[in-house]
Amino acid sequence: MTEPEATPPTAGTATDESPVLRTEGLERRFGGLLAVSGVDLALPPGRTLGVIGPNGAGKSTLVNLISGHLKPTAGTVHVGGKDLTGARPWRVAHAGVARTFQIVKPFRGLTVADNVAVAAMFGPSPVRTPAHARREAAQVLERVGLGGRGDVPPAELSVADARRLELAKALALRPRVLLLDEVLAGLRPAEIDPALRLIDELRRDGLAVLIIEHIIQAIAAISDEVLVLHHGTVLTQGPPRQVLSDERVVEAYLGHRYTRKNRS
Ligand SMILES: Nc1ncnc2c1ncn2[C@@H]1O[C@H](COP(=O)(O)OP(=O)(O)OP(=O)(O)O)[C@@H](O)[C@H]1O
Ligand SMILES: [Mg+2]
Repeated sequence: MTEPEATPPTAGTATDESPVLRTEGLERRFGGLLAVSGVDLALPPGRTLGVIGPNGAGKSTLVNLISGHLKPTAGTVHVGGKDLTGARPWRVAHAGVARTFQIVKPFRGLTVADNVAVAAMFGPSPVRTPAHARREAAQVLERVGLGGRGDVPPAELSVADARRLELAKALALRPRVLLLDEVLAGLRPAEIDPALRLIDELRRDGLAVLIIEHIIQAIAAISDEVLVLHHGTVLTQGPPRQVLSDERVVEAYLGHRYTRKNRS
């Protein structure tokens, strides 16, 4: 008997291209406000999805719905094929999803290193002993550029270093999906490129990265795809060059007058 030439993957087969994160029809209402509505996304390992949109577009709400910090009013969230719709944050973290917060949230009573060690002890493949967790923390801190700052309290960190700590805490969970909510905010221009290089390195290591960012050049440089949220819905999604030259996107950011003026 001859072998079939090619067997198409059946639904649910784990190939490199099958999404590790998928949302379908994701929706969140706050009273009369639809903060997120009908959001479908599929993110494979080793890819970066940039999420942009004006203030209040629903970007952080989208991350909160994926990470379990908010429950959707409709739609689904799957991680690695597992339905995690409405699951609590610790369950989502255990499924391999780590996130940073737009407003940084360290444990103020712990040192920088212990903040990261705590995360290492509670990840999906938690390390067993505090000593092991501290070793892990030291490695992660080195990787994000906080090598010499492990012993200080988080309150002593600069804005940029506080963002690095957010990232270190997320990485200590050893995630397969990384949700970054404005990790570049407050960084000086010279600090942005190294941060982007690190995020891209993480992607090359196989992480699926969803990054929310207002710096469009950064998003264009780092994303395989860009998704534009506007009033909670997906305005458009595609390769960065195509999306960022879309007149509807320019208009969403800058308003009608800008696009009209630039046409004349
Ligand atoms: N807990 C909440 N209760 C009520 N309304 C909320 C809540 N969280 C967010 N919203 C509203 O939902 C909408 C989307 O907010 P969200 O924070 O997701 O926007 P964003 O795109 O992250 O904005 P920014 O760029 O300013 O961070 C806004 O109108 C916001 O006021
Ligand atoms: Mg936000």
